[in-house]
Amino acid sequence: PIPVYLDCDPGIDDTLALAYLLAAPNVELVGIGTVSGNTSAAQAARNTLDLLALAGAPAVPVAVGAHDHLDHPYGGGAGWVHGENGIGGVDLPRGAREPDPRTAVQLLIDLSHEYEGRLHVLTIGPLTNIAHALEADPTLPGRVAEVTAMGGAALVPGNITPAAEANVFNDPHAAAALIAADWDVTLVPLDVTMEHTLDEDQRRMLLADERPFVRAVGEVLDHYFDFYVGTYGRRTCALHDPLAAVIAAGAVTPTRAPRVPVVVDVSDGPGRGQTIADLRGQRIGVRDHDGVRTRLVLDVGSSIGQHLVDTILA
Ligand code: BDR
Ligand code: CA
Repeated sequence: PIPVYLDCDPGIDDTLALAYLLAAPNVELVGIGTVSGNTSAAQAARNTLDLLALAGAPAVPVAVGAHDHLDHPYGGGAGWVHGENGIGGVDLPRGAREPDPRTAVQLLIDLSHEYEGRLHVLTIGPLTNIAHALEADPTLPGRVAEVTAMGGAALVPGNITPAAEANVFNDPHAAAALIAADWDVTLVPLDVTMEHTLDEDQRRMLLADERPFVRAVGEVLDHYFDFYVGTYGRRTCALHDPLAAVIAAGAVTPTRAPRVPVVVDVSDGPGRGQTIADLRGQRIGVRDHDGVRTRLVLDVGSSIGQHLVDTILA
C-alpha cells in the first residue's frame, strides 16, 4: 500500500475522503494533520479523532496544525457549507484518543524520514501546514514521492469568490509555496471536482449500512446536500476532496492532466487566490511544459461517485 500523510480540515467532503482512504485497499494512512479551513484546526482534529474512533480504525497519529494562515488570522470557517462544527452539525460520540503532541508540521517531517522516498502527501485543505513544513525543512521535497492537492480553479469560476477556490483562497501564499517547491504535485481543481457528484440514492446506501461509522458519513452529508441545491438545482454534492483521494490512491488515472505552470494570485484584490494556469496553445491536445512539476487535472475518464460508495461499503 501507498503510505499517505493526509492534511485536512474536516469538513464534510473531507469526511467522505477519510472514509474512502480508510477503506481503500492500496492506501495506508500513516498520519493526519489538520488545518483551519472549513472549521478550526483544533475542531478538525476532534472531528478526525471521533471519526477514526467510530470507524474502529488503527491509531493513526492525528496532529493539530496551523490555526492561522500565513498572511491573515483564521476567519471562522465555512459553517454555511459544512455546519458550525465542520461535520454538518452531527454530534459524534467522543473518541478516546487525543491529538498527537507533535504539530502537524513535525508529524509530516517525521513521516518523510520514516517513509523516505515513498511518502505520498495528500492535501484537502488550505496549504498552511505544508508551507510551514517547507520553511522548517527545505529538504522535505526530496523525501516525498508525490503530492496530490485538492485546490484551485483554472478555467471555471471559483467557489468562495468569483475567482478563487476555497483552499487556495484561504492561504494563497501557502498554495504558491506548495507549487514552487521541487516535488511532483498533482493539482485537483474545481474544473474536474465539480464534474463528480454523489446523489441521494447513493447517500441512502451509506445510511442503510449497519456500521455506525458508515451511517454517520451518510448523516454528515445531509447538510452538504442542502448547500449544493443552490449550485446543481437538486440534493447532491460535489466530490472535491474524495476525487483527490481517489487519484492519490491510484484508483483512477486522469485522462487530461498537463504539466503546466500555475501562478497563484496573492494580491488583496478581486483575483486573490486565483490559480492562473498557462494553458495557452492547448486547443489541439495536451502539451507538457518542460521542467514543470505541477500537473493540473482537467479530466478524469469515469465518474467516481459509485466507486467511492462501493469502496466504503465493501
Ligand atoms: C474545498 O474547500 C473545502 O470547503 C472543501 O472541503 C474542499 O477541500 C473545495 O473548494
Ligand atoms: Ca477540505
